[in-house]
Amino acid sequence: MIQVTVPATSANVGAGFDSLGLAVSMHNVFTFEECNGIQISSVDGTHVPAGSNNLVYRSARVVYDQLGIPLRGLRITQRNDIPMARGLGSSSACIVAGILGANALLGDKLTKRQMLTLATAIEGHPDNVAPAMLGGFVTSVIDEGQVYSVKKDIDPELAFAAFVPDFRLLTSKARAALPQMVSHKDAVYNLSRAALATAAFCDGDYGLLGVATKDTLHQQYRLPLIQGGDEVFELALDLGALAAYISGAGPTIMAVIHKDDTAFFDRAAAALQQSELLRHFTVHRLLADNTGAVVE
Ligand code: HSE
Repeated sequence: MIQVTVPATSANVGAGFDSLGLAVSMHNVFTFEECNGIQISSVDGTHVPAGSNNLVYRSARVVYDQLGIPLRGLRITQRNDIPMARGLGSSSACIVAGILGANALLGDKLTKRQMLTLATAIEGHPDNVAPAMLGGFVTSVIDEGQVYSVKKDIDPELAFAAFVPDFRLLTSKARAALPQMVSHKDAVYNLSRAALATAAFCDGDYGLLGVATKDTLHQQYRLPLIQGGDEVFELALDLGALAAYISGAGPTIMAVIHKDDTAFFDRAAAALQQSELLRHFTVHRLLADNTGAVVE
């Protein structure tokens, strides 16, 4: 039996739309065995599709197809700690698990880049699947169908406060809210900040993250879909966060803080409870995952 553990991920990191992402300490665990037919179960009671439309199964099948090996069937179990449709990479975790699990069952025939490219083709963009696979802070581009990623370990002195609301937001809906065209000015605003955020993470210059995570390409269009989102940004920054941004397509708001700022969480939790508008958010303390997906 093959077991695959995959971290949650937080994409975009503000300005790096469809490019930047980072892995955090919350994990889904999957097991894989070949069998006749499809047997899929959730070990934690979460509802997961049990047929050939299951995302883990579909992703595994892509590897069999790629290698030209007939698939008899798979027995898959899923433990889902990453909340679904909250902007924390739950779909990417399924895709990465399916690909890594199938590759391990078939004798590790694919390279990391090949697997990353397959995962990106299924997800549509690399900014969750790349850190899910590699861990750390990852910058990625797609060029002529190939995915190129560079991973940098995240400083363990940083921590992340994930403000997770009690409602789901489908990525398709959050992407439909975006304009088809953006101005040259907005493009420059973001590309310069995405570059600055990358340099700031690499250099440990965290005082720059507040400026570097500002964005004009997606957050302003998505915040109206996140009830209380503006106020959570304000709360996180008032409490001393280095930066706050919509995690992936939302609705989670992610704040970057110093690891030793443990008071942040008590103060944030108390403020959420006291506010009628923000009571549907829960704040989770997460650390960096610099390991990425693990296959055992
Ligand atoms: N970059 C993606 C988006 C991440 O913002 O739509 C969500 O999957």
